[in-house]
Amino acid sequence: MKSPSSVGAGTPRVLVTGVRGKTGMPLARLLVARAGVDVLGGSSNPGSVDIDGVRPTAFSWDDPAGWKAATEGVDAVYIVRPDRADAPDLIAALLDETPTGARIVLLSEQDADYMGADGWAPRAERAVRDSGHAWTILRPSWFMQVFIDPRFYLNPIADGELPFSSGGASLAWIDARDIAAVAERALLNEGHAGQVYELTGPEALSLPRTVELLSGAAGRTVTLRELTIDEAVEGTTGFERELFALTFERVRAGSFAEVTDSVERVTGQPARSLRAFLADAGPPFAQAT
Ligand SMILES: NC(=O)c1ccc[n+]([C@@H]2O[C@H](COP(=O)([O-])OP(=O)(O)OC[C@H]3O[C@@H](n4cnc5c(N)ncnc54)[C@H](OP(=O)(O)O)[C@@H]3O)[C@@H](O)[C@H]2O)c1
Repeated sequence: MKSPSSVGAGTPRVLVTGVRGKTGMPLARLLVARAGVDVLGGSSNPGSVDIDGVRPTAFSWDDPAGWKAATEGVDAVYIVRPDRADAPDLIAALLDETPTGARIVLLSEQDADYMGADGWAPRAERAVRDSGHAWTILRPSWFMQVFIDPRFYLNPIADGELPFSSGGASLAWIDARDIAAVAERALLNEGHAGQVYELTGPEALSLPRTVELLSGAAGRTVTLRELTIDEAVEGTTGFERELFALTFERVRAGSFAEVTDSVERVTGQPARSLRAFLADAGPPFAQAT
């Protein structure tokens, strides 16, 4: 059922950056499903945005000249933090160009303070907090969608292996659709301004338990290959490598193991389990009965 929006009067206009991504796509679909929302789908490749009811919109972190047009008349903006060294400055500059009354929802990451007061993730968050806009910060755990993303683990899993550096720690994997559901509320409903939501799935799973569930859903054995951090970041360079290495240090320190009930508190629905996610994921999962 469609529910009315409470942001502003008339037809709220929402810019979703990263609309082709793991959270942007389900978020855009939820926004379209609400009554009378003008959904702008931001992409650096707008010609490839093909989501019913979404207006493809040119938005690139590499093209600040286009930000004014992309944010013109918006009531709310969903910002997928770009994973690059200049992200804090880029976010601050984008928000300078964004209409003052627009709500901002930032996609950050779980336990982002871990990186210290002068670290990159807290600085990206601070750019939003200090922008003068009403804001909400989402801090999710690792997305379950990494298991079906060819840029992450889809191909090794299809070959029967999950290479990962956990050091024995658990992760509270979250379905990106649950992040999108929280973002939708924060963008359009009252009561979320100034909130930082740590978002997780319903349980923290060790990697051995994770591969057990992957194996069950795939109907064949998926073996865990525990890596060192150096092995896990092999093939990456520069800032990407530093960020990736830090992320695995954080995995090993248990940063992604804490379970919260924020998804249910905000949406009224419990967070999806990994088992439920895999049951309706495409190949190589959801083949076993
Ligand atoms: N993956 C996880 O498990 C996880 C966990 C916690 C937090 N996060 C955070 O969530 C964010 C998204 O990560 P993700 O890996 O899942 O990515 P994603 O949202 O699946 O994809 C990234 C998006 O960035 C867009 N993009 C690429 N180049 C761009 C550019 N120059 N300008 C504007 N947009 C551009 C891409 O769309 P176009 O090509 O259409 O522009 C794509 O939609 C990151 O900040 C990450 O740190 C991820």
